[in-house]
Amino acid sequence: MMVYNKKLEKLGTETAFAVSAEANAWKEKGNKVYPFHLGDINLQTPEIIRQNTNYYMNKKKNGYCPAEGVPELRMALANDVGKKRGVEYDMRNVIIQPGGKPTIWKFLATVMNKNDEVLYPNPGYPIYESQISYQGGIPIPYTYIETKNGFAIDIERLSQSITGNTKILIINNYQNPLSAASSQEELEKLAELAVTHNLWVLSDDAYFEIRYTDDKAKSIVAIPGMKKRTVILYTFSKKYAMTGWRIGASIGPANVIKQMARFNINDESCTNHFIQFALSSIVESQSSDADKILNTLRLRRNLCLEKLNLIDGIKIAKPESTFYLFPNITNIMEKKGYKSLDNFRKDALVNTGVSFCTRDHFGTPLPGEDQQYIRLAYSGINRNDISVGIDKLKNWIEN
Ligand SMILES: Cc1ncc(COP(=O)(O)O)c(C=O)c1O
Repeated sequence: MMVYNKKLEKLGTETAFAVSAEANAWKEKGNKVYPFHLGDINLQTPEIIRQNTNYYMNKKKNGYCPAEGVPELRMALANDVGKKRGVEYDMRNVIIQPGGKPTIWKFLATVMNKNDEVLYPNPGYPIYESQISYQGGIPIPYTYIETKNGFAIDIERLSQSITGNTKILIINNYQNPLSAASSQEELEKLAELAVTHNLWVLSDDAYFEIRYTDDKAKSIVAIPGMKKRTVILYTFSKKYAMTGWRIGASIGPANVIKQMARFNINDESCTNHFIQFALSSIVESQSSDADKILNTLRLRRNLCLEKLNLIDGIKIAKPESTFYLFPNITNIMEKKGYKSLDNFRKDALVNTGVSFCTRDHFGTPLPGEDQQYIRLAYSGINRNDISVGIDKLKNWIEN
């Protein structure tokens, strides 16, 4: 019998992809599906990026480039990301990655040692827990409190779970799946804990620019003492509807970034050469293309909210960021006689065609959790389908 590496048992996955497979199977049987499950975007990448890409492909930018990325894009990102967060970066602070996700494992592989404890959000993006465990760390979840304005980090519980072995704090301000947005006060409390306990911080900024308000986005990196301990996960995936292009960056202290670049050399050698050039000239310009994408998402958010809040038993606060809604459906499940969240999800798909993820797709539920939630993503579904889909869901839930 062939033998596999035992460590594989520790590697997790994104179970949301299984929901997608189920939805596709249901569709293939000839049923209409209303896809609220995946955080993918069904909008076209801006024309300027597609044109630039063709141009640089034809300009023979088709060979290897530096593992750290091309200087033009590193410089442009250093300026743009620094300016939007109120800190100064230069090219040495930035390396290009094939997407946002690689920053998670490369950062952990750079700063985490065996049995180090790592604080991460739960519910949260499932790859944190997977990578912490796989690489030999100990995942320590922190959670959120539901308020009438959305979700806030349970700072008290988080601070109580810090021990002498805690080495890293992962935060995801503008959060998937909760759309939680930290107040300045919340960020300052987190920063204080990071400084007091000398923690590294991974700031997952995947949704930093997916925001529907004029208020400036807040970043922990701008708080005194944080820049030298924080690495930012940056991605083009959401801002420019580029999930399949695979391009992002790791941004942080030059010495950490230099170590992380060693994984670029060992892993992918370099990120797509011509795409880097295609982006470098537009990163710093005021982008009406990104605004167009944002406006489409804003209209979808408003419609989703309006329609969901009409369902008996659902009351969601208006999130200012991301493209997710996370309604509490505890009363609805009780009324309909459901004990299992997964059965509720499956029955909703079969009875209405509406496909969504649940709380259970975003980390192992914690002891004592007694509220039930589902997550609806509006990035991959147009307004007509949002409208019809949520009407069907309402009908099924209320009858
Ligand atoms: C919170 C969060 N971080 C990181 C990522 C990964 O982004 P990318 O597709 O650029 O790798 C995602 C993607 O959904 C995400 O939701």
